[in-house]
Amino acid sequence: MPNQSNHRTVDGSEVGGESVQGGTARTSERERPKLLYYPCCGHDLADPMRYFVDDCEVFWFVDRGTVPGIEGGFERWMAEHLKMRLIRSVEKRVEARSEYMFRGQMRRRFSPRWLEQIYQHVETGRKIKVIRKKGLGEYTFRHHLEAVDVFFYRGDSWGEGGSGIGWLKPPKIYQVLNKLVDGGLLVTDGSNSDSYKNREEFIRYRLRYGSERESDEALLARVQSFRAYGCSFDCEGLAGHRYGPTLIWRVQKRPRENQQTSAAAERG
Ligand SMILES: C[S@@+](CC[C@H](N)C(=O)[O-])C[C@H]1O[C@@H](n2cnc3c(N)ncnc32)[C@H](O)[C@@H]1O
Repeated sequence: MPNQSNHRTVDGSEVGGESVQGGTARTSERERPKLLYYPCCGHDLADPMRYFVDDCEVFWFVDRGTVPGIEGGFERWMAEHLKMRLIRSVEKRVEARSEYMFRGQMRRRFSPRWLEQIYQHVETGRKIKVIRKKGLGEYTFRHHLEAVDVFFYRGDSWGEGGSGIGWLKPPKIYQVLNKLVDGGLLVTDGSNSDSYKNREEFIRYRLRYGSERESDEALLARVQSFRAYGCSFDCEGLAGHRYGPTLIWRVQKRPRENQQTSAAAERG
């Protein structure tokens, strides 16, 4: 579990508004609720909720193929596992094909729909907001989020049902790091990251073919910090396993190296 910061609450009355969607990296930390973003999530909601429910107040889950959920019902799972009771739910849809992406020369359009829900902890009264959206991960990231505290991304691939989106390789990783707050978390199994030699930090600790799986403790003991993309990455723990260990990286921006990062992000 990452460092626990001072908790802030999400006001239930804001459920339909824009104010809890993210704020900007410039907004004072006290005002802005902490936000987790997981694009291309499918129905992989349990671990991000379990590991970050105490750390974040706003959760965005986005998948192109489905309104993300959990088998047996997300609301029920939240109540049983996290003692979070649903107190407000709003369903939204946009019939006009308002989201788009570019694939080669083609501009493909998409009609999103989503659920915005407020949950309240039965013992402490603390509220969180969960947005589960059938929509495009890139569009949502670009147009709806300004600052991200936890970028969660795993279980994806280039083909066979994978999104084929290189969230963790240039140029897209620069956009991700640009929106991630300084000191924010990147939580990943290294899906769709750069796998060139010397650029394979996010997948370095995946189980090699034929080797035996080690304990989580042994694995964490040998994970090393690294620098890349104008930032330093320090491992703070593990948030389960997918295509490899899902490592929790604390990301510190390095101002001088970052001048290149920002330029690349704008180009990307
Ligand atoms: C291989 S699945 C991984 C799901 C999840 N991360 C997991 O570990 O179970 C890839 C997912 O990406 C979604 N996807 C593909 N393109 C997308 C896009 N442009 N935006 C959002 N989701 C997308 C697919 O619908 C699919 O559910």
